[in-house]
Amino acid sequence: MKLKKGYFITFEGIDGCGKTTQIELLDNWLKSLGKETLLTLEPGGSNLGKDLRQILLHYEKPVADTAEMFLYLADRAQHVNNVIMPALCEGKIVLCDRYTDSTAAYQGYARGCDINQINMLNDIATGNLQSDLTIVFDIDVQTAQLRLGKTKDRLEKESVDFHTKVKNGYLELSRLYPQRIKTVNANRTIKEIFSDVKKLVGELLNI
Ligand code: TYD
Repeated sequence: MKLKKGYFITFEGIDGCGKTTQIELLDNWLKSLGKETLLTLEPGGSNLGKDLRQILLHYEKPVADTAEMFLYLADRAQHVNNVIMPALCEGKIVLCDRYTDSTAAYQGYARGCDINQINMLNDIATGNLQSDLTIVFDIDVQTAQLRLGKTKDRLEKESVDFHTKVKNGYLELSRLYPQRIKTVNANRTIKEIFSDVKKLVGELLNI
């Protein structure tokens, strides 16, 4: 059995919540402390995943909800096997932009796929690899929409109602798994949000 020595931190939130900026700040901070990190994302964190990402975000014909779910899961299975687990076994801190909770929030709470099935399929796709810490960037849907600008991908083009369901889905997940999932108020300045992120990660890593 492979032994995981590193830490696995994932970042979640609705489209336009500002998490990518925060992950980059965090990566720089950890590197400045001499930590070895791997910054990665879903969908698209592996070679196969890059092709799946293209389909997931830009396919122009209708996609069945279940087909969409399986494509995200396929991306995840390849990502965990070929990228995340090897890095964790080398002792790295893996920072992942979206992971299992995205499928629960988007395909489950927003699209209406069965949550219990998603949990089971996530376990299969990941070989039961859970994050050590998940930070949800909670933001008003309207504010996030304004940030997205005009060129939106397939998911970003979804309605305000859809993104509200995703947001509420994340809040429900953080109520269900309070040990693992921590919510940060992302309606504030980059600096204020990052100070919360540093605190949460600092507690996990004892720094
Ligand atoms: P991306 O451009 O990476 O958006 P962001 O910067 O907001 O993360 O696109 C990823 C999109 O895929 C985003 O709209 C959320 C969606 N998604 C799911 O619907 N389910 C999933 O399991 C994952 C990983 C992402």
